[in-house]
Amino acid sequence: MKTYKVAVIGGDGIGPEVTASAVKVLKKAGDKCGFAFEFTECDAGGCSIDKYGVPLTEQTLDICKSSDAVLLGAVGGPKWDGVDASIRPERALLGLRSGLGLYSNLRPALMFKELAAASPLKNVESIDILIVRELTGGIYFGKHGRAELSETLSDGSVKGLTAYDTEEYSTAEITRILKEGFRYAQGRNKKLTLVDKANVLESSRLWREIASELAPSYPDVTLDYLYVDNCSMQLINRPSTFDVIVTSNMFGDILSDEAGMITGSIGMLPSASLGSPGTPGMYEPVHGSAPDIAGTGKANPLATILSASMLLRWSLGESEASDLIEKAVRDTLADGYRTVDIKGGSSDITIVDTEGMTAAVLNRI
Ligand code: IPM
Ligand code: MG
Repeated sequence: MKTYKVAVIGGDGIGPEVTASAVKVLKKAGDKCGFAFEFTECDAGGCSIDKYGVPLTEQTLDICKSSDAVLLGAVGGPKWDGVDASIRPERALLGLRSGLGLYSNLRPALMFKELAAASPLKNVESIDILIVRELTGGIYFGKHGRAELSETLSDGSVKGLTAYDTEEYSTAEITRILKEGFRYAQGRNKKLTLVDKANVLESSRLWREIASELAPSYPDVTLDYLYVDNCSMQLINRPSTFDVIVTSNMFGDILSDEAGMITGSIGMLPSASLGSPGTPGMYEPVHGSAPDIAGTGKANPLATILSASMLLRWSLGESEASDLIEKAVRDTLADGYRTVDIKGGSSDITIVDTEGMTAAVLNRI
C-alpha cells in the first residue's frame, strides 16, 4: 500500500491537541482511499527550547526535509516571553520556512455560511479570499541589526542607537510568487489583487512593474493593485469582491489576520506553506497556540483538520481524500456541531469539545 511520510510538530499550547485530531482524520481518510501514513512526531517552538535550548533542532529540520509533508500545530506562549530574541519559539517557524524553502504561503479566508452570524461585519454575503503571502523574503529575512549613532535631535536629545530591518526583494523572488498568484487566480474567480505600498516603497514599485509585465501571459485574469492601507479598509468595506490577493511577507502577515477575523471563523482557517514542486509543504492552522485554553478540551480542531485536507491535496495529490475531509467538516457544521469558539448566535446546535468535534468529523468520513 502506498505510504506517505508526514512529520508532525504539535508544538505548544493547544498545538498537540489539534494535531492529534488531524492525525486521526488523516488515518481515516487514508483507510477510505487506500493509502497509509508513517507519522514522525518532532519538537519545535517552546517545548524544544525547554528540551534542547533552541526552538528548532537540526534533527527536527532533517525529519521534515525527508518527509512528504509537515503538519504543524502552533508554537509559542507567555512561558517563553523572557527568552532571548534569537531563540524565541517563533524562530522555529522562520527556520522551518527558510530551511524547507517555503516561499509561498496560502491563507484562504473562507466564511462558512453556518458561521456567518459570527462575523463581526454586518450583512456580509460571502467571503472567499485566497491570500498568497510571500514567505521567505522581505523584511522578515532582510538585513537587520543595531548600530551606534550620535545624532542630536532638534530637542537636544542624543540618539544612542539605531535599529534597522530591511525590506528587499529580488526580481526572481517577486516573479516566482506573482506567477503563483496568477495561477491560483486562474483556478478560482480569475481576479488577482496585488497589495503593496508603491506610493512609498521602491520594492513595491518593482512588484508592480513585474506584475504588469506578467499580466499579458494570463489574459483570463484581471489584475488590479491596492495600497495596503486601502486594502485593510476594503477588506471590511467590500470583502465579497476579493478573489486572490498576492502580497509581501509583512503585508500578508497583517492582512491575513484581518481577513481571517472578518470571516468569523478564525478557529476554522487552515494554511499551507509551499516550496518548489517535489519539496515537502508545511500545513498549519492560522490560529495560534491559545495557551489559556490548552488542556481544557475547548480547542477547535477544525482548522488543523482542514489543514490536513490541504496537505492531502497540495503535497500528496490525494484530492479524493482531501474532498472527503472537507465534505465531512461541512456536514459536521450543517448537523449543528460547534466548539465554543464558533457557537455564535446560532440555535439548534450541539456544543462539543475537541474530542467530540473530532469524532463527529470521523463519523462523517
Ligand atoms: C504567522 C505568525 C508568524 C509570522 C510569527 C509567529 C513569526 O504571525 O504565521 O502569521 O509573523 O509569520
Ligand atoms: Mg501572523
